[in-house]
Amino acid sequence: SLPAPGITMIGAGYVGLVTGTCLAKLGFDVLCLDTNANRVAALKAGRSPIYEPGLEALMERQVAEGRLRFDTFEPKGVAHADFVFLAVGTPSLPGSDQADLSQIFEATRMVAPQLRAGACLVVKSTVPAGTNSTIRAIVAERRPGLAFSVVSNPEFLREGRAVADFLRPDRIVVGCHDDAGRAGMERIYRSFVDQDVPVLFTSPENAELIKYAANAFLAMKVAFANEVSDLCEAAGGDVRDVVRGIGLDARIGPRFLEPGPGFGGSCFPKDTRAFVDIGRRLGRPQRLVEAVVAINEDRKESLSSRVADALGSCAGKTIAVLGVAFKPDTDDLREAPALRLIPALVEAGAEVRFYDPQVAAAGVAELEGALQASTLAAALEGADAAVLLTEWAEFRMLDLVSARRSMRGATFVDFRNLYARDTMGKAGFLYHPIGSAPLRDLPLLPEGIAASRRVSRAVRDGRVA
Ligand code: UDX
Repeated sequence: SLPAPGITMIGAGYVGLVTGTCLAKLGFDVLCLDTNANRVAALKAGRSPIYEPGLEALMERQVAEGRLRFDTFEPKGVAHADFVFLAVGTPSLPGSDQADLSQIFEATRMVAPQLRAGACLVVKSTVPAGTNSTIRAIVAERRPGLAFSVVSNPEFLREGRAVADFLRPDRIVVGCHDDAGRAGMERIYRSFVDQDVPVLFTSPENAELIKYAANAFLAMKVAFANEVSDLCEAAGGDVRDVVRGIGLDARIGPRFLEPGPGFGGSCFPKDTRAFVDIGRRLGRPQRLVEAVVAINEDRKESLSSRVADALGSCAGKTIAVLGVAFKPDTDDLREAPALRLIPALVEAGAEVRFYDPQVAAAGVAELEGALQASTLAAALEGADAAVLLTEWAEFRMLDLVSARRSMRGATFVDFRNLYARDTMGKAGFLYHPIGSAPLRDLPLLPEGIAASRRVSRAVRDGRVA
């Protein structure tokens, strides 16, 4: 068989590193280049600069077996590559919703002079429709007569599940403008075709649109669940059963219907805004997604008043925030609801401390005026209220009775509906889930009586309003 083609990955950030490592696992020879020298030094020492389950071990193995190398960016690094993957960032332009494409165009200009004949540029970054053809024009201008292809191959990796998502994708989307690009991608993804993973070959514009539209649709499901959750609270329903009932319809499906504190992360917020921007600029406003963006902003903004409602007032209260990463199994804080809630609580006069298993491991000690407790128990000790933002497995296993005993107050605001109402009531909590009525009175079970006596004493002593 042919030797495995050489792949150069431009960008060893989240997408580049996961994709490069997984392509090496598939047997390709991969060189990852990044302009950040510190990052490259860490990678060469075998450390992943991001926390992603399974990634570091997989990286180590590929490096040991000689299929994966890292280096600082150098245009010559693409000279032998059959495939040059572009996995650089496309953040929002400062003060704007538009995607900033400067990194991707800059990378294209840098590598163009070194591309070998027949090379295939593969765009992994999330970019607006039309970017593939701009990249083609940039290369063609610098290399008249060179045969090359530019393929749009969006990624659908979820943080915390990225390795598994790469190795077991729902589908692969490939947008190409010529047969050579298509044949190249068939070579890269042959093993997936053998496993019956659907591979959609389409135009570059379609591939570019699919990525934004897929993220926008998923974000819309989440925003919808959040609005239905609010409605359930007012109507005396329970959103857990309502979304279960909706999701059992196979046309709707149960996933991405969990209400929460609003979506965050590196993709949904930025990509929904960019999608709205593209729609406006092309004269086809995407009104549903415009609403999704606004709903999600309002939701993050409203978190502190929800806590204040549960507590009476935040002033002078000690509040433990459980989880600050935008979701579990990551240390990513980008657009995390915690970044909105914590400063608002501090502003309202609360003393805030937080605990997050992975953000702790990443060495973050302070966030927006709150200090990180070294353990979950230390965060809860003596707190007037607990507010859960991220559904970490560690929190699911919390010993609720001893947590309640160690706290000064009984208020527990759960933005992820992680616990069963009965259990929380029995443990003596005034439990505030989302999308259903709070437990405002403690049940008169033996544990509950003891807890409510403690609460009454605390109220009498002026420790709780
Ligand atoms: C997302 C897409 O899922 C992925 O395909 C794309 O490539 C990148 O963006 P990611 O940002 O890693 O991945 O996280 P995801 O698991 O999709 O969650 C996004 C946000 O939505 C999180 O803040 C999460 O808490 C929230 N969410 C998700 C909910 O509130 N409820 C849900 O039911 C699902």
